Amino acid sequence: MILITGAAGALGQLVTKKLAARDDVFLGTRLPRSPTQRRVDFDDPASLDFTGVDTLLLISAGYGEDDVVITRHDAAISAAEKAGVRHIVYTSLSGDGDHLAYALAHRWTERRIQQSALEWTILRNGLYAEFLAAIAAPGPDGTIAAPLGEGRLAAVARDDLAEVAARVVTASQQHAGRTYELVGEEPLGGAELAAAVGGSYEPGSLTQTREALIAAGNALPFQVPMLVGTYSAIAAGFLDGTGIGHNMLRRLLGRKPQSALEVYTTTVSATTPVS
Ligand SMILES: NC(=O)c1ccc[n+]([C@@H]2O[C@H](COP(=O)([O-])OP(=O)(O)OC[C@H]3O[C@@H](n4cnc5c(N)ncnc54)[C@H](OP(=O)(O)O)[C@@H]3O)[C@@H](O)[C@H]2O)c1
Repeated sequence: MILITGAAGALGQLVTKKLAARDDVFLGTRLPRSPTQRRVDFDDPASLDFTGVDTLLLISAGYGEDDVVITRHDAAISAAEKAGVRHIVYTSLSGDGDHLAYALAHRWTERRIQQSALEWTILRNGLYAEFLAAIAAPGPDGTIAAPLGEGRLAAVARDDLAEVAARVVTASQQHAGRTYELVGEEPLGGAELAAAVGGSYEPGSLTQTREALIAAGNALPFQVPMLVGTYSAIAAGFLDGTGIGHNMLRRLLGRKPQSALEVYTTTVSATTPVS
């Protein structure tokens, strides 16, 4: 039996769709919506019954301070150990992301899994092209003001990462003890993004961006440094893919990855209100 956690999240839904033809896949989610879904909430260890699960796809639940995320992931891994799960597949963060604030909880989780007696596979996912569309969207006048400097992001289609996860969980023994770097092949910078949406690129400073994020009031306190740090790491050139030794995306997909630029433009046009 395969159990997918975070099944109602964007990545979890895509993995679920790809495995829909199988009868050995179960969905774990905080709010089950059908009898085939199990309640799995890392914040409630009593809900973490993984009895009968052979392979657990642990989708990171990364929205929180480090101590919150670490406690969540520890609870899930401890429950997997207790239930005798054979193999855990964890969605982590690409190796070039160590400068990002959220890297710490991912690296802690990788180490926790590797020090367990479980078989494991680590999927070191790059940042999604859809995420880039959220953090570097053009404004109403077409201007992209995201402070990416001259940096580029080796963004990757979330759907490609779901495809890899689906392939790995259904043949987990072939992937035991492997850590896969999964980043895009066409790094994207502000100028390319602006050209693709017919706008202009006029990057703000990190200070202006931090102030705007705080003023908008939509971000939780921990999210402000998280976002500013993401821009900073892209601008400093750490996330353009050149720091990745062996990008396994194409090999594990068995095909060319989807165009991150197309995913960016499609996502932007789907989320930008028509004036
Ligand atoms: N690579 C990237 O660019 C990127 C960007 C953003 C986030 N991430 C990370 O990748 C993960 C998956 O991405 P996504 O696109 O699917 O994000 P998403 O759509 O925001 O989904 C995250 C899912 O995490 C699950 N979750 C949250 N808190 C949980 C808890 N206490 N216990 C169990 N599950 C919990 C929830 O699943 P249910 O609703 O089913 O309970 C939630 O829907 C995120 O959670 C985050 O850690 C990566």
